[in-house]
Amino acid sequence: MYIRNKLSWQLPDSAVTSQSNYVGRRQFLRTFGLGLAAGALLPSVAPAATFGFPDSLNAAESLPGVKLTPYDNILAYNNFYEWGLEKGDPKENSNNGWKTEPWTIEIGGMCTKPGKYDVDDFIKAVGGIEQRNYRHRCVEAWSMVIPWDGFALSKVVAMAQPKPEAKYLQFTSFMDPKNCPAQRSQDFPWPYTEGLTLPESTNELAFLATGIYGKPLLNQNGAPIRLVVPWKYGFKGAKSLVRIDFVAQQPKTLWNQMAPNEYGFYANVNPGVDHPRWSQKTERIIGAGFFGGRQPTLKFNGYEKEVAGLYAGLDLRQNF
Ligand code: MTE
Repeated sequence: MYIRNKLSWQLPDSAVTSQSNYVGRRQFLRTFGLGLAAGALLPSVAPAATFGFPDSLNAAESLPGVKLTPYDNILAYNNFYEWGLEKGDPKENSNNGWKTEPWTIEIGGMCTKPGKYDVDDFIKAVGGIEQRNYRHRCVEAWSMVIPWDGFALSKVVAMAQPKPEAKYLQFTSFMDPKNCPAQRSQDFPWPYTEGLTLPESTNELAFLATGIYGKPLLNQNGAPIRLVVPWKYGFKGAKSLVRIDFVAQQPKTLWNQMAPNEYGFYANVNPGVDHPRWSQKTERIIGAGFFGGRQPTLKFNGYEKEVAGLYAGLDLRQNF
């Protein structure tokens, strides 16, 4: 693991969570037979330091315009359609016995080093966990700032060694109709899938998250591992991943299949391109209270400097 000097995109406080602490925490829950219930029972206001995680996350709050979203809001206001359509449904329904441990993730497709990993071994293989405070902008025009734990997606690409014909990555969420009632219906083309181009995947900002606020992800946020692409609308961040595949063609994605005129493949945050049914110029800040407000939405969600180069020459209106 290495710690770099602060980069332009870094919101303050990029404390590093060691991978042994992270794995230790999952192991602790397993060893004591507490599993997810224990995670859920932990008081959400418990100091992050309780289990040896860094507790110095609040520096971000001193920066004008950057305030971390309270943990309670991040856990209770979710989109995870496998578990229901209302914002409180994922918390309520994904914690009724659905097991996200043990968990296997498979890396496959056009790469020379495919592999099937227990998720804790996967984290070890990529060299551990770091912490990043990222803006999170949903296509529904609300936003949060989340302190994620995880690692750069580029590390997985480097480990898997894509073949020359690989041009995209496809991400596949879990499929478990036995335990997930919504997946027994045909309303959505399950499993949830998403995709990125290979250059997007190796951009330094593309991230696989395994925790929030120094604690392992809870089910409603996509335990045990999910994609985070902070310059794109939140739906690109497929949760509870079971596969990442290197592919030659632009992969099908769930939302693009559902409504291609509303949800493009690129889905870069862009206040200049409205959703057909609402404006994307501003966003409601979750956790800021009823009058706490709205703020202008930034192009590429504020990460233009880091990612605009990926789209040089591309018409972002056509390729929304
Ligand atoms: N992943 C899966 N598997 N299923 C989903 O319904 N919703 C997406 C994304 N990932 C979704 C998903 C959407 S629309 C958003 S905004 C984010 O997850 C929400 O992440 P959060 O609930 O952790 O804020």
